[in-house]
Amino acid sequence: MSTGSLFEGGIPNEIASEIEDIRKRINRANFLYYVKDQPEISDAEYDRLMRRLQDLENEYPEAVTPDSPTQRVGAIPQTEFAPYQHAVPMLSLANAFDADELQAFDERCKRFLGMDRETPIEYVCELKFDGLACSLTYRGGILVAGATRGDGFQGENITENLRTIKAIPLNLHHSRRESPDAKAVPPVVEVRGEVILEHDEFRRINEEREINGEPTFANPRNAAAGSVRQLDSRITARRNLTMFCYGVGAYDGVDFDTHYEILCALGDWGFKVNPNIKVAGNIDEVVAYMNEWETKKESLPYDIDGMVVKVNSLDLQTRLGSVSRSPRWAIAYKYPAHQATTVIKEIRVQVGRTGALTPVAIMEPVEVSGVTVSRATLHNEDEVHRKDVRVSDTVVIQRAGEVIPEVVEVVKEKRVGDPEEFTMPDKCPVCGADVERAEGEAVARCVGIACPAQIRGRMIHFTSRNAMDIDGVGPALLDQFIDNGLIHDPADLYSLTIDQIIPLERMAKKSAENAINAIEVSKNANLSRLIYALGIRHVGERTAASLAQHFGSIEAVRNASEEELAEVQDIGPVVARSVAKFFDQEETTEVLRKLKEAGIDPTEEARRETEEFAGKTIVFTGAMEKLTREKAQELVFKLGANPSSSVSKNTDLVVAGDKAGSKLEKAISLGVKVISEDEFLEMVKQAGVEID
Ligand code: IVH
Repeated sequence: MSTGSLFEGGIPNEIASEIEDIRKRINRANFLYYVKDQPEISDAEYDRLMRRLQDLENEYPEAVTPDSPTQRVGAIPQTEFAPYQHAVPMLSLANAFDADELQAFDERCKRFLGMDRETPIEYVCELKFDGLACSLTYRGGILVAGATRGDGFQGENITENLRTIKAIPLNLHHSRRESPDAKAVPPVVEVRGEVILEHDEFRRINEEREINGEPTFANPRNAAAGSVRQLDSRITARRNLTMFCYGVGAYDGVDFDTHYEILCALGDWGFKVNPNIKVAGNIDEVVAYMNEWETKKESLPYDIDGMVVKVNSLDLQTRLGSVSRSPRWAIAYKYPAHQATTVIKEIRVQVGRTGALTPVAIMEPVEVSGVTVSRATLHNEDEVHRKDVRVSDTVVIQRAGEVIPEVVEVVKEKRVGDPEEFTMPDKCPVCGADVERAEGEAVARCVGIACPAQIRGRMIHFTSRNAMDIDGVGPALLDQFIDNGLIHDPADLYSLTIDQIIPLERMAKKSAENAINAIEVSKNANLSRLIYALGIRHVGERTAASLAQHFGSIEAVRNASEEELAEVQDIGPVVARSVAKFFDQEETTEVLRKLKEAGIDPTEEARRETEEFAGKTIVFTGAMEKLTREKAQELVFKLGANPSSSVSKNTDLVVAGDKAGSKLEKAISLGVKVISEDEFLEMVKQAGVEID
């Protein structure tokens, strides 16, 4: 791509080429990380490139293009999605459930084509991803539109959301040509595939939702669909979705002979194409591949619900055409569902860390594709009523991918008599405290502060990796601590002695020492970790970091009023109320006192809103005598300003040191206020900071 057309309007050549160079490097890094799974540069280097590009684009807004990597962050929330008409309908697939049905499919194809039964047809076998089908349109190699499948003819325009998925190239020109005979990117091409969530990310999102008191997603497919169809694409951007591409819709200016060629071209253009593809010479090879994947699919990091078999020759595909809304040239092979029937013995109510009550079905043990299952989640009270699950009912349960088994439906014909309907207890089954269900919420909660179930959950959270990171003190050991009355709250960990631990089950002297050491080391955790570890409702890692940065100490957060809390960046009224309520409790005061006594009272230099600096965007340029640029930037940040590395009309102040160059010139031409290092130091002094 030439830079001339991109950067008209007075952007210096060296800047234009720097921007283009950085974009290429970021695009390549994205491709290697998100598509090829082979990262080459460090996270720090990636962040540095992104920051530099962002700065340059702030300085030269006219250089921003829709395919710039900065444009993935998520756009302004929409009120609804516009309808999107598919130029070529997105068809669905007929199903086959066993080898005989695959053979029948092969015979149908041959009959339709007038072929004799002995002549083999070549097929391509692919995984059938369990997510949401989407289409991506590229014009001149640039992503211009993205849509859901919808009813196959009309979907929804979700371009802004799809843009945030890093496995989707925004610009095909920058992707790597993998093979020497790769097809050139055509003027128009519509690429189709499935947006999915991997298991790890699914778990992470559900954990976060649990912390925030939001209902969790039942499976990765629902989570993917919910994330892709967010009106606020900034939320989509935070869910690490990915997309496997498996075909094309409308295209022009490129020729293909086979479906396999299409898949190779997609890979060459920078799309993520699943490597588990097989070109099978005949239907027997297809059957063998299906059998091979029956067990192999269990080890994939994402869910599939079958395999797709496609006639490889595009000529044959055209001749076969489609019937109703499915092509005759493809079929979905569905693995036998991981379902079984069993009987509900009991509906037990579990209590989680946040006090959330979850009904769990305790069932007669039953084998579901090789795994014995005796418990299944019923999610929440409304779900139990919706499915009308009662004790003694016969139910169909299923195990989908990695996910916890769930009750699909009740076999009503087998219900005996009129068993009692399920009701959520009004007292916590673990501690007996009241259970409350807030209006409009699906989740009922135990309000008991000393509830052992909550204590266990809170302790697991407190010690977890992103919190205090107490390696070697896992859930099993915590259970022993709690059961033996050694700990009642997180602060008690710090008064444990080795002599208390050694007598516990499965504890050798060495592992007891390791546990004590790990607890000791965790005393050095910084303030954000500590705030996060406390497990305040609605306070995830990011919010904890904002609180730490703003207040600088636990004491300051504790003393802040609800109004003051709500003034912190990223903190809304709901979170502010939750934080204030947490610190208002006597139990919290006691835990904090004990933590402090154990020497845990981290501080971070708090950011202050000074009259001189608050809200100002400041650029440092040239060499300064008394401070390094980094130190100066850190200093003004702490005083409430936003340091930036480039000058634009939004800059409030430029501090010009020795040999200041183009930034100074630009500031002067834009009429931005410029001061010297000495004047800057004077301002700092006014703001109450002495520099020697
Ligand atoms: S091909 C006409 N390939 O399955 C061909 N589909 O019932 C249509 N799917 O809505 C699609 N993995 O969401 C194809 N490797 C794959 C697939 C796949 C998942 C989904 C897709 C479609 C549904 C078809």
